[in-house]
Order: sequence, then structure tokens, then C-alpha cells
Amino acid sequence: MRHLITTKDFHKNEIIELFKEAKEFLDEKPRDFLKEKSITTIFFENSTRTHSSFETAAKRLGAKVLRLDVSKSSSSKGETLYDTAANLDAMSPNAIIIRHANSGVPQILASRMHCPVVNGGDGKHSHPTQALLDLFTIYEHFQGNTEGKKILIVGDIKNSRVASSNIELLSQFGLDITLVAPPHFMPNSSLRKSYHLNKELIENTDIIMSLRTQVERHEKMIYASLKDYANDFCINSKLIQDKKLILLHPGPVNRNIDISDEVMKDQRALILKQVKNGVAIRMAVLKKLILEN
Ligand code: CP
Repeated sequence: MRHLITTKDFHKNEIIELFKEAKEFLDEKPRDFLKEKSITTIFFENSTRTHSSFETAAKRLGAKVLRLDVSKSSSSKGETLYDTAANLDAMSPNAIIIRHANSGVPQILASRMHCPVVNGGDGKHSHPTQALLDLFTIYEHFQGNTEGKKILIVGDIKNSRVASSNIELLSQFGLDITLVAPPHFMPNSSLRKSYHLNKELIENTDIIMSLRTQVERHEKMIYASLKDYANDFCINSKLIQDKKLILLHPGPVNRNIDISDEVMKDQRALILKQVKNGVAIRMAVLKKLILEN
């Protein structure tokens, strides 16, 4: 049984095939590839984009969706995570999408489920469909010519599952990655690093991927204030001026901390395009895992 826990679960040529299929799905027309199939979503951590995107993707393919409302589930009565998942698995869905605040949960559950499991984000570990939709957005923008394109990943990289999945995936497609963060947000990595976001870096990049400061994952306040952090790392008009580049962010955006209000409205900010592309990518992922397994 194949699952999608990290981006390494798909080979490069499979990802290119997913992109071809996702491009077709951008027309947003309903399909019936998954008619009579059912998909269960179990999100133990809040989500706006990923949860709605998977649900939209599943329905656009003709599947039925069972959305477990974890806040009203028997988890609050002491049922273990495994038992909750095992009970939903016993209802024979064709795929289960799981998000959890702890790294490794989707992997552990996948080994015990009878259908494909898709990781909707686990702790600081991995968010494979986010990285796939980010790469798809880049791939589409540069018409498949990703080799050698320069990308700055800016912000709270150490605590970001989006960053770790992107670092895993983007280098496979030849992107030249520079990590930009203050020391306490910088992960151990052999990639090029900068502790300052300056005009020279902007001048030499094709893509900026801004990340959210993950305050909920910080054990203690590690920047004097978010305002101080924003002074150094917020993507604003003064910084990017009229440089030809694209700006990505996985959301949710902390406005005027990650990206200024003004830049949020800039045509170079592809944040809502990422969301649109995300539905198409998740359609391609669900179709592949359910019909090819
Ligand atoms: N990008 C992302 O994972 O957003 P949500 O937390 O809203 O799903």
C-alpha cells in the first residue's frame, strides 16, 4: 500500500506526471474518477487551506467525504489516537487524510490502516502536498524550467514543516536554495545560509518563499517582539522594489510581519494562486493513490 507521508514517497517522474494531470484539473470542472469512493479527513490540528482543499479536491473527483470533527469526537473521552483512526478505518474509506501537531503520527497510523494515508501536515516534520503545490506553482510560472532558478526561503525555517518538505523537494528539481533567517530560526543544513535579508539577495533571486512565524511552536519568546522580527524579515515594497520575481507563502500569512499589506496586493504575490493550484494537485494525488494502489 502506497501512502504520501513525505515528498520522498513519489519519484521525480511521478511528480512530473502529477503536474501534467493537475494542469488539466485547473479547469475546475467536476470529474467522476472517484465516483463511489469515500475519503475520511481527520484533522487534530486547525486548518483553513489544507482541510478545505482536500475536501474540494475529493468532491471535484466525485468522491464522498467524511470529515471527523475532532472537537466533538470521542478523543475527549480518552480514546487513543490509534483507536480513533482504527474505528474510522473500519468503515472502509478509500483514503484517510491526517493532520496532527506531533511529528510522525501519519507515518505510524499508515502502517496500521487498510487504505492510503495522506499526511496533511505533522508537527515540524512534513507537509508533502504543500511542497508539491508550491513546486507546481513555480513549475507553471517558469513553464517547467526550474533548473538553476534561485529561491530564498525566508523566516521561521526551523519550525516549519513546509520548509522541510520544500527543501526535500525543490533541490530534486534543480532549484538553488538559500535559507534566510535569524539564528534561532535557522535549521542545521548544508544549504547556503544568510542571517540577514538584504537587497543583494533580492537582486539575485527569482523566487521568495516567505514563511509564517510559528509562534505556537516556540517554547519561549525568541525574538524581542514580532515587530522587531518584521523590521528585519518582512517582505515589503522597499525591499523588493520592482525586481522581477515571484513571492510565495503557504498561509496563513501574518500580515506586516511576514509580508506587508502592500506586497500582499502585488501581482508578484502568488499566494491565492498557490491555493487554487493546491486543489488541482490534491486531486491528482488522491486519484493516483486511490486508483493505482
Ligand atoms: N498551508 C497550510 O497548511 O495552511 P492551513 O494550516 O490553513 O491548512
